[in-house]
Amino acid sequence: MENARINYTQVVWEITRLLQEAESLEDALRTSLGEVVKAVGAEAGTIWFYNSTGDKRIYPSFWIGGADLTGMSLAAGEGIAGTVVAEGKTTVVRDCQSDERWAGRFDEATGFVTRSMMCVPLVNKYEVIGCIQIINKKDGTLYDDADVALCENLAMLTAIAIDEKGLNLGFTEEKKAIISLRGVTKTFGSGENKVQILKGVNLDIREGEFLVILGESGCGKSTMLNIIGGMDQLTTGTFTFDGQDYSNADDKTLTMYRRNAVGFIFQAYNLMPTLTAKENLEFIGELCADPMDAETALEKVGLGQRKNNYPSQMSGGQQQRVSIARALMKKPRVILADEPTAALDYETSIEVLTVLEEVIKAGTTLLMVTHNEEIAKMANRVIRMKGGVVAEVIVNRHPASAKELVW
Ligand SMILES: Nc1ncnc2c1ncn2[C@@H]1O[C@H](COP(=O)(O)OP(=O)(O)OP(=O)(O)O)[C@@H](O)[C@H]1O
Ligand SMILES: [Mg+2]
Repeated sequence: MENARINYTQVVWEITRLLQEAESLEDALRTSLGEVVKAVGAEAGTIWFYNSTGDKRIYPSFWIGGADLTGMSLAAGEGIAGTVVAEGKTTVVRDCQSDERWAGRFDEATGFVTRSMMCVPLVNKYEVIGCIQIINKKDGTLYDDADVALCENLAMLTAIAIDEKGLNLGFTEEKKAIISLRGVTKTFGSGENKVQILKGVNLDIREGEFLVILGESGCGKSTMLNIIGGMDQLTTGTFTFDGQDYSNADDKTLTMYRRNAVGFIFQAYNLMPTLTAKENLEFIGELCADPMDAETALEKVGLGQRKNNYPSQMSGGQQQRVSIARALMKKPRVILADEPTAALDYETSIEVLTVLEEVIKAGTTLLMVTHNEEIAKMANRVIRMKGGVVAEVIVNRHPASAKELVW
């Protein structure tokens, strides 16, 4: 116990430093929350803010852990967090599921299972502005006084930092999920060689967003992308696109889905060497129901002048732009990109990312797997996969533009 308290003092110092020195208070809040979650041995944590001048609801603005709370909110007084905001009192709950205040719809929507919780109000000079919630103590014990004190310190330091520096988060409304994965597992092989790669992935991809997926090599990013792209089938769980369930779709249904709904970009451009840029696009156009005009697609990626060039006559960046144009041919709602810049140098990567930036601006949803943390700065949301599940979801309120990236 004595050790734990010394440790907690260090955490408080660290949080103080983070919040005082922060260039970006948003990053500092997220990092501080992560420090507390780690120090008390919890699974997840959320900072909620009260929209006092608007709809009087509370919004999860920062969170750590696998539950994706994007676009959700609670009425003041609803759920445990809502109650803490309404009453302004610290609350510790051993078993949320059997607590009468518990808002079970959150677990239902995210696939997360909440067990224990500690929730502390965030109070500035005048009023309750939100709360901090720490969820599921991993060792199964109840949060003790030292845990509560640490969380109250975070709440106090957070309120001070916000008073000093200001924090303009806005309260964003929920966007429609175009793709949803719930409890998705994927097992390869059989008998002794059986390995489970995905272990219950929960993920929503929202209309018009740019979502980046990070995670160590071999953690299952491409496997997940292949399932979303209809190129492989999940083992258990559900996968829906635009409300339609493709979890157990037959080959024919998946082929039609691949042809018309999603565009693909890979690390390898996979252009046919004997066809010009335009012919490479027209070839794909033949296969889809309502293709874009090939020249228009090439113009969208800035290669109108290069339509009669063969792949060998173009740089890697240009070839990748042709492959983006090829993905655009289907007028897809969603583009799936698996490490599209991995084979390119810095400058050509920026060239390709600038084109993708335009594609997103035009309203296409983009899901990109990358190992490049710098590229993640462009995304609206970043998810990190670990141990076969989505381990972290970060909302980026101020995405960078391609031209600002440096590596
Ligand atoms: N068809 C398959 N049969 C057997 N094992 C497979 C198959 N496809 C993938 N795997 C295994 O699943 C694991 C995850 O692979 P995946 O390609 O999804 O990883 P990744 O996260 O994309 O990695 P990287 O960052 O290196 O691309 C790996 O161990 C891989 O060997
Ligand atoms: Mg991969």
